[in-house]
Amino acid sequence: MKSPYEGIKRGCQYLHGFGKNDISFFLGLAGLRDGMVVLDAMCGEGALSQQLSKKNIELHLLDNSGFQIGRAKENVKGAEFHIGSVLEMPFSDGTFDAVFIRNGVYEVSKRSQIKLYKEVLRVLKKGGLFLSWTLGLDEAQRDFVQAFVGKKDKLAGFDDLVRNRHLMTRSELSSDLKAAGFSNVGFPQNSIEYVLSTQKWGKTDFLGDKKKVSSLNEYVLGLKKPASLSLEEHGGDVRLVVSALLSVSQK
Ligand SMILES: C[S@@+](CC[C@H](N)C(=O)[O-])C[C@H]1O[C@@H](n2cnc3c(N)ncnc32)[C@H](O)[C@@H]1O
Repeated sequence: MKSPYEGIKRGCQYLHGFGKNDISFFLGLAGLRDGMVVLDAMCGEGALSQQLSKKNIELHLLDNSGFQIGRAKENVKGAEFHIGSVLEMPFSDGTFDAVFIRNGVYEVSKRSQIKLYKEVLRVLKKGGLFLSWTLGLDEAQRDFVQAFVGKKDKLAGFDDLVRNRHLMTRSELSSDLKAAGFSNVGFPQNSIEYVLSTQKWGKTDFLGDKKKVSSLNEYVLGLKKPASLSLEEHGGDVRLVVSALLSVSQK
């Protein structure tokens, strides 16, 4: 089975055009204080942790890809690194004051998302916070983006993601977090945007295969798009802009 993360060297900052200020805003939602114990779960290259590591906290990073943990080790100093699944984390109950996940939850199946939230709840201290950053979608937008990204995963040969990836709507995220046992679930206003670009996927996920970019362009331009989403075509690149959804939930 081909994994997207063993070998891909460009992360979400590049892929979606996020800025450093976007990360600062997200991290600021946790109200971190000196000495807190913090987890960057599904950390990838460690983009969040590059900023977290400048704070006076005990920082841990977790990812199930040894390749990505290797990249995170190059980018982040003064932290502890763990290879393991977010669905069965190698931490005792009540370890963390805050757990961050960006662009991770939607990579596991719907059924596993509930398991993931319960597992985050388990490793949080009482009163601790779970901070999540994902795509902000209503149902019509979700169906469109799921079809677009699903086609990209299929063309890239990411069979596991084709089977499991589940983009959640805002109301689904809210009810699943509450069902898992979180309280005070909130969605702070933000101005962060994802750019989904077929050219960028061409460079990363398709390893420069231009035919796959053309197939994806043709596919997405043929889909019925909700009026609330903006899709632009420029010189062989098709770009979709989607607002980010940030959530803060408490144990
Ligand atoms: C899209 S990347 C996001 C990386 C990082 N959070 C960021 O925003 O830059 C998703 C990451 O989740 C990791 N991942 C996927 N499934 C996982 C699981 N079950 N347990 C732990 N990590 C997982 C992948 O290896 C990958 O590094």
